[in-house]
Amino acid sequence: MARILTGIQSTGVPHLGNLLGAIIPTIEMSRKESNKMFAFIADMHSLTSIKDGNTLRENTYSVAATWLAFGVDIEKNVFYRQSDIPEVSELSWYLSCFMPYTRLQLAHSFKDKSEKLSDVNSGLFNYPVLMAADILLYDAEIVPVGKDQKQHLEYTRDLVDRINHQYRQEILIKPEISLNDKTMYVPGVDGQKMSKSYGNTINIFESDKKLRKSIMGIKTDNLGLEEPKNPDTCNVFRIYSLIGSEDQKNELDENYRKGNFGYGHAKQSLYELICEKYGNERELYNELMSNKTKLDEKLNFGAEKARKTAKETINRVRSVIGY
Ligand code: ADP
Ligand code: TRP
Repeated sequence: MARILTGIQSTGVPHLGNLLGAIIPTIEMSRKESNKMFAFIADMHSLTSIKDGNTLRENTYSVAATWLAFGVDIEKNVFYRQSDIPEVSELSWYLSCFMPYTRLQLAHSFKDKSEKLSDVNSGLFNYPVLMAADILLYDAEIVPVGKDQKQHLEYTRDLVDRINHQYRQEILIKPEISLNDKTMYVPGVDGQKMSKSYGNTINIFESDKKLRKSIMGIKTDNLGLEEPKNPDTCNVFRIYSLIGSEDQKNELDENYRKGNFGYGHAKQSLYELICEKYGNERELYNELMSNKTKLDEKLNFGAEKARKTAKETINRVRSVIGY
């Protein structure tokens, strides 16, 4: 059974882009018989940017509720909160003693923000080391990531070589990178990539009224109702086609091309599709968010399992490095 590991930062309520591009495909991957997934909420990484306790806690619950609502199997897999396992900080320190300073200076996570060094905390500088600790603590074999995280994985692999070479034994397992190049690109309401940082997201967990309002706000051109329209250049259609079945997509395509079908109609169809397709998940999410005790129980259940593996690894590392 392959041990797959992935982390998700808790920086906000997951939006439709996060769902279609990351959460739903990862849960599907975890369903495969031959896979066992370690999936955690990287709330320690989130602290590099979020400094309000309530916001961080609420975001963590929100990400947890999303994964649970979309059906992550917590019996087969290990689903937990990063900060529940303090061993990760310990391993992170050990790893940092092997990570060349000059390499960290080249990390994108740091370089992207380094024009204004006064805004950079050393947590952000050490971000890749904590990420390596996340992976190595659980002896992960495969780490599925998007292109933006590839460099972090290369740092992790390099740390494994350095440490195993230094102590002349295989203390740490070298993970394979599984690049998901094909992940879909979900456009936001303004047509750019949907992202928290652009304020153009669709949040499916909001009330019907708010959800409908954000869908009605998707930018389109201003062709009149009766005119035929090109679905291939329309954001509403692009989002619809990422969610709907082939038949649903073809039907909407025809409506666009034959005319007498306005963008308001298309948006209404998208709204109805989201309500129909994700109705159960929306309900479950809101139920979980109003029962934090239940969420804690599920996260604690995962933490128990994660802790067992973490302790074994940390003991192995401690004894080799001389403690
Ligand atoms: P954001 O850009 O909103 O801050 P994150 O960087 O936290 O989102 O992304 C979390 C995960 O969701 C990543 O795996 C990322 O590739 C995926 N993701 C985010 N936005 C999109 C999008 N618009 N389309 C497809 N996948 C996305
Ligand atoms: N840095 C990752 C991101 O922003 C999140 C993350 C933290 C992660 N630790 C990880 C991903 C370990 C994979 C493995 O998307």
